Amino acid sequence: MSKKNLVISYALYSRLEELPPKDRELAERAQASQALSYAPYSHFRVGAAIRLEDGRLIGNANQENAAYSMCLCAERTAIASATAIAPGVRISSIAVTASAEQKLVSPCGACRQVLNETEIAQGSAIQIILQGSEGSWLVFDSARDILPFPFSPENLDHTRG
Ligand code: THU
Repeated sequence: MSKKNLVISYALYSRLEELPPKDRELAERAQASQALSYAPYSHFRVGAAIRLEDGRLIGNANQENAAYSMCLCAERTAIASATAIAPGVRISSIAVTASAEQKLVSPCGACRQVLNETEIAQGSAIQIILQGSEGSWLVFDSARDILPFPFSPENLDHTRG
């Protein structure tokens, strides 16, 4: 037996104004996208914005439902919007923000799974920009950085049937 350590690298910016201009623009688009949120149950308004490889920005927000398990996270509505508006165009970056402005917005496991598979399908990394605590911002180079030990297409056994 041996013990292993996992190291996750990310950039930490203490204020929005410190982000590189393009990242700041995307973070602000995510904040603006909170207006698209439908969150009458949690009152937690999440906005996500995507930068496409061709430079276009696409924002969306969480959409809740009285049947709670049907709630859609902002990250996934934004990805679906990007896929519909710009099919086949790669996603370079996604920013995620929420109405609880001083707290970290940490994508749920399902969204990490979808982001990871989107990276694999498009063959390039997606930068992840997250609202952090107390006005800070966290920037990860890849969705893979926030999903250690992922279940991926390669885990499926395609040799049967
Ligand atoms: N939510 C998101 O949209 N993204 C996240 O990363 C975390 C959670 C939404 C789902 C639900 O509408 C509300 O936040 C409370 O969980």
